[in-house]
Order: sequence, then structure tokens, then C-alpha cells
Amino acid sequence: MIRTHTCGELNESHIGQEVILTGWIRRLRDIGALTFIDLRDRYGRTQIVVEEPHLVEKARELGLEYVIKVKGTVRKRPEKDINPEHPTGYIEVVAKEIEVLNESKPLPFLPEDDINASEETRLRWRFLDLRRPVMQKNLIIRSRAMNITRNYLHERGFVEVETPFLTKSTPEGARDFIVPSRLNPGKFYALPQSPQLYKQTLMVSGFDRYFQIVKCFRDEDLRADRQPEFTQIDLEMSFVDVEDVLELTEGLIKSIFEDILKIEVETPFPRMTYEEAIKNYGSDKPDLRSSIRLIDITEQVHGFGIVDSIREKGGRVIALPIPHNFSRKEIENLREEAISLGAGGLLFFKKFEGKVSGQLAKYINGEKFEDNRTYLVVADLGEKPYKVLGEIRNRLIRRLNLIEKDWSFLWVKDFPIFEWNEDEKRIEPAHHMFTSIYEEGMERFDKLEEKLEQLLPALQENDPIAIKEFSEYVASIRGKQYDLVINGNEIGSGSIRIHRRSLQEKVMHMIGLTDEEIEKRFGFFLRTLEYGAPPHGGIALGFDRIVALLTGNESIREVIAFPKTTTGQALFEEAPSEVEEQLLRDLHIKIIEE
Ligand code: AMO
Repeated sequence: MIRTHTCGELNESHIGQEVILTGWIRRLRDIGALTFIDLRDRYGRTQIVVEEPHLVEKARELGLEYVIKVKGTVRKRPEKDINPEHPTGYIEVVAKEIEVLNESKPLPFLPEDDINASEETRLRWRFLDLRRPVMQKNLIIRSRAMNITRNYLHERGFVEVETPFLTKSTPEGARDFIVPSRLNPGKFYALPQSPQLYKQTLMVSGFDRYFQIVKCFRDEDLRADRQPEFTQIDLEMSFVDVEDVLELTEGLIKSIFEDILKIEVETPFPRMTYEEAIKNYGSDKPDLRSSIRLIDITEQVHGFGIVDSIREKGGRVIALPIPHNFSRKEIENLREEAISLGAGGLLFFKKFEGKVSGQLAKYINGEKFEDNRTYLVVADLGEKPYKVLGEIRNRLIRRLNLIEKDWSFLWVKDFPIFEWNEDEKRIEPAHHMFTSIYEEGMERFDKLEEKLEQLLPALQENDPIAIKEFSEYVASIRGKQYDLVINGNEIGSGSIRIHRRSLQEKVMHMIGLTDEEIEKRFGFFLRTLEYGAPPHGGIALGFDRIVALLTGNESIREVIAFPKTTTGQALFEEAPSEVEEQLLRDLHIKIIEE
């Protein structure tokens, strides 16, 4: 190497040694007879002192972020200049030779941790943004988490197998990215939304334990925790049941979090059924850093018109107790939030210092309620009141800082196998269509087709009573599905799979696929189930989300080297972009102007 040490390495033990350092000029201080250079690389920073007159002259030609090589001698800093906060803060290097390895133009922003450049500027100049120590730390932690994952899984007999990116549409419910095939005009590959079908196939092939740290591609609306290409820790195991997968996965999470954060992670993680999660927290990914729970007050409110009529229709009246005395204006804002989340409205009462007040005060027996709380109330059919208040709970515990501990690890399991999708007006699997069903639900599952014949017309009108009836019916047809939830974020999802063709086909029919569609899309996979498919199951963890948690970031863009914006653009390299006319012709593609 052209250096002897890194910029983070030198300390008092090196005093007197001649060294060669390389790095970027972070700061230049010219104080006449002396120049101080703060030299930075990935490992840290070191103070260089330039004292020799001819070198001081030369240093005047240097600029910020120039890459230089410095030969010099390590000496102890004068007492007043010692900076104990930095590992190299006790020493400095007195320059004997300085060589410019490369210059730098003036920068749009300096690669420091605290900058006020917009995210757009940062992404456009990503190579400089990634020079910032905080970004390097994020990616180094990412790399370490990847390494821990590989070691953990290899130690337990997992085989890392790569699966194709140019493939056929895979069913995770998002839109596919497609790639035209030049050799097969008019035909397209799809980029995989996940390796789901391949990993199941590898189980049929007898690999027993598979994993892959793999890119997945989904053309969906992007948010802070969603990217069009993202990374999963994807794994699959044969001859396992639910608990085996949970145990293996929580061991992996424990290893990663304990190694990187130096905290103690207690396993097993608590397990909660979907039903418990909705009833108590109004969410299938409850944030258990707060102990606040929903309460059912259906039988405790009487004489209030809307509430009485909801009760008569079989709905529930749910309250969210919050230890905060909201103003009238705050309640009004919360009401608007509740309405935008799909509620008909938001009611409330308060109890502070034993005194009950607010809209519902006259209609309840205040003695039964805990003191010093505002009770936010939603009355509605089915899961609606729970889910609306659950979302408000999630927001308020953050907004009002009602968080009681740093970490909450949780398994949510036993989801109903199907849900009614109100937007698309169709039945869809709660996880995906490969999830197996608990034995006790099979009888109802077998009768579901009949039930649907009755309900479908009303369901297609999104009739709330029909939706309620449907969700009550499927509630007891539970899938062997589990989600890993950390601090209220969905970190992973998996299931024990269906391994018999007949059942698999039946599920496909239920969600509305015809025989032709099934054969065309999944024929290749269904055939594998006819040739000795073992019982199997697995999970996929959102790796970007894990790293965001480990580094304390809200957005996964902070832990991905070259992420896309929320409109799917790569600003640094400028993709997507137009392509040559000839390429389109080769692909038999014509762009139609709108
Ligand atoms: P699922 O679709 O739930 O399951 O994905 C697994 C996990 O991947 C993460 N994730 C995402 N992260 C960033 N950007 C996205 N667009 C994005 N979409 C999903 C989430 C999620 O929990 N094949 C199944 C797994 C299985 O059954 O084994 C699957 O892909 O953290």
C-alpha cells in the first residue's frame, strides 16, 4: 500500500515514528507560518502540521477534499491542543513531504455528518454523500449484519443458492417490473418480487435448508420503508413447523442486534395471535414499546344514538385511553385523522382528577374508567374501529413520546387465511397463496366456496355487513403465517407452505383464478408438488428495514448505497432514461406518445 497507516490509527504509541498517510483534506487552517491539515479517510482523521517554509508555501495550493499523501513524523500534541474525543487526538504528524494524488473541484456540500443539503442534492451527489462518516457507518453496519447472517445460517447447515432475476411473474401482490426478451420478440421476463417459488422448489429438490440475501423487485408506491428494489434475507426449511422457523429466526435477530448494538435481546420473543393483536392494539404490527391498549366499551355506552345503532348492527365501540389532556383543537385534528383512516367519526370523553367530561360523559359510568386519560372512541362494524384507533395509537405514542422502552420484538401469528380487498373488490390471501391452513379450520375452508356464492354479490358492493360476515367466517380459518414485528415495523413475514397440489389449487380457485390462469402462471410450480414435495416453510426478512433499525434511521434510503427517490428515480446515474431507437426496434417495442 502507498500508506503505512490509516487516518484513524495513530496514537501515543507511535510517537517518533515516520509514517505515510493518505486521505482527503477535511479542513485547512493557514495561520501564517504554520498550516494545519485535517486529513480524513474511512477510519478516522489525523491532524497534519506543516511547518517547513517550502511546504507551507506548497500547502497554500491545496484545497478541501483534495486527495493527498503525506510523509511525516508522529509527535505528541501540545497539551492545549489535545482532543480526547478523537482516538488520534493526542498526536499530530509533522509533514516532511506532501504529494497531491488528485484535486477536487469545489463541492456542493462538504462531506460532514451535519449538513443541510436537501435529500435530492444528496442523492444526485451520492458519491460525496457516501463520503460522509455517518453514511459510511450505515453501510459498514449493513455489511456486518450481512456477514453475521451468513455465518449464522452456514453454521446451521443452510445452503446459499442464487435464483434467477430474469424470470416469470412471482406472486407477492405488487406490480411486476418486466424486461423485454430480444430473442423472443413480444415476450417479457419479470423481475422476481421474491424468490418464493424457487425456494419452495429447492425444498422439493431436497436441499432441506436454503437461504439467500437477495434483491427483490416490486413496482409499488414508494414510502420511507419501501424501495422498488430491496433486499431480503430469504430462507426456507423442510420438515419444520411454525415454532422451528420462529426459533431459528429469532436466534438470527438476536445475533445481529446483540453484536451490533451491544444490547441484550431476550428470546423467545413474545408471540401473539392476529386476533389478540387487533383486539388489544388495533394493528397486526403493534408497537409494544408502549403498554397502552384498546378497550372494548360496547356494553358501557348507552343512550348515544350512533353508538346504539352500531351496537344493534353487531358492531363494537372501542376506546383508546391516552394519558394526555387533549385540547378541543387537538381532538378536532384527531377526528380528521380518524376520518381519513376510514372511520365515520371520532367520539371522546375525558377523566381527569376524577372528573368525567366530554361528548360521551353523560352516557357512560365514569367510575369504571382509569383516571387522567382522554378516551378516544370509534364505533363501527368489523375490524374498522380497532384498526383506525390502532393507527392513531401508533402515531400518538410517537408524537406524545409515550414510549416506555427501547426495543420491542414480537411475533404476530395465525392470520386469517383470506381478507376482502375493498379497493380491488376481491378476496386475497392475508400473506400469499402458498400458506398452509391449520387443521381445525379445514372444515370451514371446504365450505367457503358455498359461503362465497351467497356473499359475493354483497361483497362486491363493499357492503360493510357482508364484509363483517366474511371476515368473521374466515377468522377461524387461520393460516400458518407469522410476521416478525420490531418496534411496530413489519420486519419479516413467512409461513408453513401448502405441499399438496390439490389444496394449492383449491386456494388458487378461491382467490378467483381460473384453471387456465393457474396452469399458465403456476403450472411449472404445481407440478413440483406432485413429485414428492416435503412439508416445508420459511420466512423473508426485510434486510434494509433491519439495518435502518440498527442505525436509528426512519428511512431505508439512508442504508442503501444507491436508492431511488419516491418517484422511482435514481438521481446519481439518472435512471430510468430513454434508450436508443435501434434497441427498441430490436426488441419490437414502439413508444406510443400520449
Ligand atoms: P413479504 O412480501 O412480506 O414476504 O416480504 C418480506 C419482507 O420484506 C420487506 N419488504 C420490503 N422492504 C423494502 N421495500 C419494499 N418494497 C418491501 N416489500 C417488502 C418487509 C417484509 O416483511 N416470499 C415472502 C416471504 C415468505 O413467505 O417466505 C415475501 O416476500 O420487511
